[in-house]
Parts: sequence; C-alpha cells; structure tokens
Amino acid sequence: MTRFALAVAAGLVLVAGPALAQQDGGQLFAMQCRGCHQDASTPLAPALAGVAGAKIAGRPDFTYSPALKAKGDQTWTDANLDGFLKSPMGFAPGTKMPVSVPADDARAAIIAYLHTLK
Ligand code: HEC
Repeated sequence: MTRFALAVAAGLVLVAGPALAQQDGGQLFAMQCRGCHQDASTPLAPALAGVAGAKIAGRPDFTYSPALKAKGDQTWTDANLDGFLKSPMGFAPGTKMPVSVPADDARAAIIAYLHTLK
C-alpha cells in the first residue's frame, strides 16, 4: 500500500512537473499586457509587432518617455527584454511602463511570445 501510494505520488509529480513549468506566453500576454499593448500603437502603449530585435523606443507612432528614449542606441535583445520586464524601473528609471513580470518562467514565455508578433 505504501509502495503504491509512493508510485502514485511519483506519477503525479511527473505529470504536474512539465505542466507547471510550461507557461503559455500568449495567455500571459493576453492577461498582463493586452490591456495596454494593442495591435496598433495607442496613446496608452506602443504596438509590439516586431519588437524582438528592434531598436528600443524606435516606433515613430508612439511618444516614449525620455527614460526609454535614452536607451535608443540599443536593441531589444532577449537579455534587454528580460531586464526590462523583470524591472522596468531598474532597466530605464522613469519609464512609463508600470508592469513587471517577476517570475523567470513567465518572463521567458512572454519573451518567446513577443518573437511571434510580426
Ligand atoms: C499599463 C499599460 C501597460 C501594460 C499593462 C504593459 N505595458 Fe509595456 N509599455 C507601456 C508603455 C507606456 C510603454 C512605453 C514606455 C516608455 O516610453 O517609457 C511600454 C513599452 C513596452 C516595451 C518597449 C516597446 C518599444 O517600442 O521599445 C515592451 C517590449 C513592452 N512594453 C512589453 C510589455 C509586456 C510584455 C507587457 C506585459 C507583461 C507590458 N508591456 C505591459 C505600457 C504598458
């Protein structure tokens, strides 16, 4: 009986492990980012199509904060996206983006999703 219970518990860990580790970047984006970031830029936030690899604060159709503009000599590498999403204010003190994503796996999933936005 004990052995059976252990086997069941081990099975549950195996099933739950990958399911918990794998986050749906699209769903996270819909919940945490879509409210501001639409398909086209709005006064609330810039559009994010093609943002992965693009120049930071590079869209002509959005008025960025001076803080993010100051990073305009760099591009949105995965490392920069990770730093910005982990701590927008740490990455660009004074940025107008108020939302951060503290969980590493959630950030990774969202960044992977950003790569799909064309
Ligand atoms: C409350 C509105 C709001 C939410 C929610 C929000 N953002 Fe932003 N985001 C902004 C604003 C405003 C800017 C421009 C910041 C600036 O100019 O300092 C921005 C800028 C960005 C940029 C840089 C764009 C560029 O052209 O350089 C990225 C990348 C980004 N946001 C990703 C995200 C992601 C991913 C989420 C969800 C986890 C998110 N944002 C949630 C308002 C928001």
